[in-house]
Amino acid sequence: MAHQSELIEKDILAYLKAQEEKSMLRFITCGSVDDGKSTLIGRLLWDSKMIFEDQLAALEADSKKVGTQGGAIDYALLLDGLQAEREQGITIDVAYRFFSTDKRKFIVADTPGHEQYTRNMVTGASTAGVAVILIDARKGVLTQTRRHSYLVSLVGIRHVVLAINKMDLVDYSASRFHAIREEYEAFAASLGFADITAIPISALQGDNVLERSGRTSWHAGPTLMEYLESVEVADEALAKPFRMPVQWVNRPTLDFRGFCGTIASGSIRPGDEIVVPSSGKCSIVSRIVTMDGDLDEAVAGQAVTLTLADEIDISRGDLLATPQARPEHVDQFAARVVWMHEEPLLPGRGYLLKAGAATVPAQISELKYKVNVNTLQHEPGKTLTLNEVGVCNLALGKALAFDPYTENRATGSFILVDRMTNATVGAGMIDFALRRATNIHWQNLTVNRSSHALLKNQKASVLWFTGLSGAGKSTIANLVERKLLSLGKHTFLLDGDNVRHGLNKDLGFTDADRVENIRRVAEVARLFADAGLIVLVSFISPFRSERQMARELIPAGEFFEIFVNTPLEVCEQRDPKGLYVKARAGQLKNFTGIDSLYEPPEHAEIVVDASQASAEELAMRIVDRILGVGEKGTAQSEWMWVDGI
Ligand code: ADX
Repeated sequence: MAHQSELIEKDILAYLKAQEEKSMLRFITCGSVDDGKSTLIGRLLWDSKMIFEDQLAALEADSKKVGTQGGAIDYALLLDGLQAEREQGITIDVAYRFFSTDKRKFIVADTPGHEQYTRNMVTGASTAGVAVILIDARKGVLTQTRRHSYLVSLVGIRHVVLAINKMDLVDYSASRFHAIREEYEAFAASLGFADITAIPISALQGDNVLERSGRTSWHAGPTLMEYLESVEVADEALAKPFRMPVQWVNRPTLDFRGFCGTIASGSIRPGDEIVVPSSGKCSIVSRIVTMDGDLDEAVAGQAVTLTLADEIDISRGDLLATPQARPEHVDQFAARVVWMHEEPLLPGRGYLLKAGAATVPAQISELKYKVNVNTLQHEPGKTLTLNEVGVCNLALGKALAFDPYTENRATGSFILVDRMTNATVGAGMIDFALRRATNIHWQNLTVNRSSHALLKNQKASVLWFTGLSGAGKSTIANLVERKLLSLGKHTFLLDGDNVRHGLNKDLGFTDADRVENIRRVAEVARLFADAGLIVLVSFISPFRSERQMARELIPAGEFFEIFVNTPLEVCEQRDPKGLYVKARAGQLKNFTGIDSLYEPPEHAEIVVDASQASAEELAMRIVDRILGVGEKGTAQSEWMWVDGI
């Protein structure tokens, strides 16, 4: 590398020490190639000489060959070269580049500026302390400037540089510069930045990037590099209250119990008190153990093992905190969510929420509104699609310890993960705790599920029929119920078409509505099962995720997923309600199997095919299975009651 190469050659240890002691600034650049973003980053890298010698040589050669700057160095080519590299690994769309000067080390997150890349920008910006927002001096504040600024404020960046670029193309006009600055400041007033520093630059000519320009003598502020080298963002995390998510509990011997994790904010010393929000229990830190021996103090960013004076219950996912400033600990909160997946967000669907070291089941209980990232206007919506931002209420399966994001970026953010595919689908910033549920406690009733079932001389259970429209679910479920009734069993049948006439008559057939349809009927099925009944549910229930959610509401062994696996061609041929004909003719939208997804079960307890046997026979098999007749080794075991498994 060219930078400080002499020191590297002469005294590598001195060089490394100097590097280590420099402070580090992470920043993000926002803008498009048209705004001169590639040229600007290229120049920062070039002028700090933190690029490899062979890249420098190649850049000079390329600039002569294909450059747009008449043989002079075309800095944008440097980035395009790096871009080609990164495009090979198509999944990474945020590029982090490292460079350094005598004063500081820098990591710049470079994300594509296009609208579709909200996801990348949020990822790149989430660890940055400063945002450099590029504006073309000829064009001024554009829609994308507003979008970038909103996202920058969303992820909690408080220091903004307004780099007004291409000043050479507006004759270094002070009035143009001030007009843009004023327009931007007026717009950004509501975004909560701590400071906005406007700098007139020409990335191409180098004005006010590293060198102060003689052509903008009216500019009294810093150059871009002066700003980046001196801006104080250092250790905002350090000044916050102590927080440490417990990654794991280290218990090598009976005498040692250590809680390992990386300190998210604040600092800790032996003798300090800590609290565990999940139990409210407090203790005192005895030791701070590391690989290099015990410490007198540990601060944000350090990975340590804490031992405590008392044996209190702490497990992975707990958040250790100072009792002087306790985090929230509730199971409902309001948050801003950025959707990051092609599959839209579906309120009511069960996701996994990961925050710190904790993973808890979570649902978006309400999408209050979407934020149009271009206009900042609030818009109504039932789902969020890729790159959309929404303000939501979330309900968790278990209380979580957190801080509002504006108070602590580390303990106020989370990601949402799809339970079926494990893909990261969203990222969120917590606004505030919702306390409305905290005054409700589960009442232990004396007459409970088992007493209800006992009286009825049966085991409560849920028989969940799933399959395409016209597969025969309702016919079979109806026969099963009749047979159970004749055997003296107490049952109740919830049928999709019927429930949609009452409880669910406000719902249609979009994915979001189907999720809500199944969520409600699953809750109802649980209540009926609590009444000791054998509940039959006959809904298309097309999505695995919601069937899984229904299953988890019912005790193990009492939920039977019955897949009525009748082929689409057969369902369509039968078409008992004439709906397939309409769907094929385009008169019925979102019809399951035609233009709406059906996800077949992978682990159904029972699979039947109504094109292979009569409904009567299939119903008999199901009843036998449910009541435990026909298990292996009994007389009926020659015939298959579980087809296809
Ligand atoms: S689910 O997908 O949300 O589980 P549900 O079982 O409640 O569906 O309702 C399905 C019934 O609604 C079908 O049997 C059919 O009679 C009727 N229906 C009307 N429109 C549609 C549609 N677009 N897709 C599927 N079923 C529809």
